[in-house]
Amino acid sequence: MKADKPKTIAMTLDGRSSVFVLGPLAGLELARFVPHPPPVYIIDEQVARKHPDWLEQIQEGCDHFEHCTLVLPGGEKIKSLAQLETIYRWLADCNVSRDGTIVGIGGGTILDLVGMAAATWKRGVNFVALPTTLLAMVDAALGGKTAINTAGLKNPVGVFHPASGILADCGFLSTLSLGAWRDGMAEMIKTALIGDPRLFAHLHHSREQLAALLSSGDAAQPVPGILGSLPWSEWIGQAAYVKADVVNRDFREQGPRRALNLGHTLGHVVEAWSHETDAPLTHGAAVSIGMAVVFRIAAERGTCPLPTAVQVIELLEACGLPISYACPPPEKLDKLLASDKKASAQAGVRWVLPRKVGLMDLEGRVSAAEIRKWLD
Ligand SMILES: NC(=O)c1ccc[n+]([C@@H]2O[C@H](COP(=O)([O-])OP(=O)(O)OC[C@H]3O[C@@H](n4cnc5c(N)ncnc54)[C@H](O)[C@@H]3O)[C@@H](O)[C@H]2O)c1
Repeated sequence: MKADKPKTIAMTLDGRSSVFVLGPLAGLELARFVPHPPPVYIIDEQVARKHPDWLEQIQEGCDHFEHCTLVLPGGEKIKSLAQLETIYRWLADCNVSRDGTIVGIGGGTILDLVGMAAATWKRGVNFVALPTTLLAMVDAALGGKTAINTAGLKNPVGVFHPASGILADCGFLSTLSLGAWRDGMAEMIKTALIGDPRLFAHLHHSREQLAALLSSGDAAQPVPGILGSLPWSEWIGQAAYVKADVVNRDFREQGPRRALNLGHTLGHVVEAWSHETDAPLTHGAAVSIGMAVVFRIAAERGTCPLPTAVQVIELLEACGLPISYACPPPEKLDKLLASDKKASAQAGVRWVLPRKVGLMDLEGRVSAAEIRKWLD
């Protein structure tokens, strides 16, 4: 794939068209997905601050009127009922009608929140997503899941509402912090593991360059020169293709889509547990720990080749991601596992366990003893 030519992946989700475009993005791309301009924009604060000229260019391609724009801080706290209420009031002020369009520009947190607002405002208006983090480009913006956090739980409330257009441009990543790069790599590695052995091999082969960029440094600072050092556009396109293919085949998560939960069952446990400490884990870090543990378990059982598990752990470590964590006390572990929102009343907690790169067992069972043995 050439970096200077947009790549397009078409999906049909719930009978509706959802198109992923990997930039560079001209304003005209946005106009394609806005049937009744002008749209309204909800933009991550960091993005608004760091990319003002670019945003203006993208917006100008769509309309020449005064833009109705709301700027919100990104981060997990934004995914709340209170913020949803703020957005509804603002949408009312902007007179957004049933045929209006809401454009969300930001990382996975802004897109989850704005998607939820678009899904529910006037019983659903057109939503366009411009993901600006690696994680959002390869995962959160694709597949139509929206969510907010409430009742002390992560993502328990949400609806399916696919964006009609997902417009990604790697240029936004120039200002991304090291921590956000690492989080995005966890989801990119996961996606490669479930559906693209060649991408996984390429990432593993590049682990020394990845380590030089990502294994150390201040997590809050950007990573100078990262965009020119590795084929990000190609990798993002490949990972997005895997996710698009999976959600296209199983939008409602009845079967193959569950593979995307690789590393997430235990990931959610350690993420929730860590939020009770003064060193909360990011989502990507928690997923990394979850993946490392299920590969260890599968390798020990002999259901996945040991060298594969070793390669996965090498790659996660090269990206500066954690691979182990102190196990919660037994009763806490049980409680956190039981609250897994993907657990079904009949089937209990079904784990995604690897058999090899590109092949997952979606009905895995893991004992508390195995978790304790391999988590820390
Ligand atoms: N809906 C889904 O299918 C799905 C899938 C995976 C994850 N998610 C959700 O995604 C969220 C995590 O998303 P995330 O990792 O993008 O986090 P995020 O949205 O919090 O972004 C991380 C940080 O980067 C900043 N930022 C965003 N773009 C930037 C840019 N271009 N330059 C500089 N800073 C920038 C944000 O302000 C934020 O501080 C979680 O809430 C998770 O539940 C959703």
